Amino acid sequence: MKVSIPAIAALALIAGAATAQEIRPEVKARQGQFQTLSINLGILGGMARGDVAYDAVRAEAAARSIAGVSMVDIAALFPEGTDAMSIEGTRAEPAIWDNLPDVLTKWQAGRAPGGAGEAAAAKGPQDIGAALGGLAGACKACHDAYRTPN
Ligand code: HEC
Repeated sequence: MKVSIPAIAALALIAGAATAQEIRPEVKARQGQFQTLSINLGILGGMARGDVAYDAVRAEAAARSIAGVSMVDIAALFPEGTDAMSIEGTRAEPAIWDNLPDVLTKWQAGRAPGGAGEAAAAKGPQDIGAALGGLAGACKACHDAYRTPN
C-alpha cells in the first residue's frame, strides 16, 4: 500500500496528540497492581465473612497473588511528575515524592501479612480472617498518608 507523505505526517500528529492525553504506563501499572491486590483481598474477605463458600484452591490462589504482587518493587511505578497535582487520572499524593523511603517501607510492610495470608488460606476461613486484618492495616496506613481522598 502506498501512503502519501502528508498522510503519514497527519497520522503522526494524531498519534502524538493521543499519547499526550494517555495515562502514563507507570500510572496504569501501579493502579492495575493495586486493583490486583484489591480483587484478591475481596475474594479472601468474602470467604472470611462467609459470603462466599470457602474453597482452599481459590483462597490459596488469591493469597499467592497478593503475596506475589507485594514482592514487586514499586519505585519504578512512581516517576516524577505523576502526582495528582501534575496529571489527571491519579490519586497519588505529591507527598509521595518527598517521602519515597517511607512509601517503600509502607509498601514492604504488606509483605509479611501477605505471606501470612498464604499460610492462612490453606487452613480455613477463620485463619484467613485473622490474617486479613494485618494486610488491610498495611493498605490503610499507606492510603491515609499517600492517596488523595476520593
Ligand atoms: C505504599 C503505599 C500503598 C500501599 C501499601 C497500598 N496502596 Fe493502594 N494505593 C496507593 C496509592 C498511592 C494509590 C493511588 C495510585 C494512583 O492513582 O496513581 C493507591 C490506589 C489504590 C486503589 C485504586 C487503584 C485505581 O484503579 O486507581 C486500590 C483499589 C488500592 N490502592 C488498593 C490497595 C490494597 C487492597 C492494598 C493492600 C493490600 C493497597 N492498596 C496497598 C498506595 C498504596
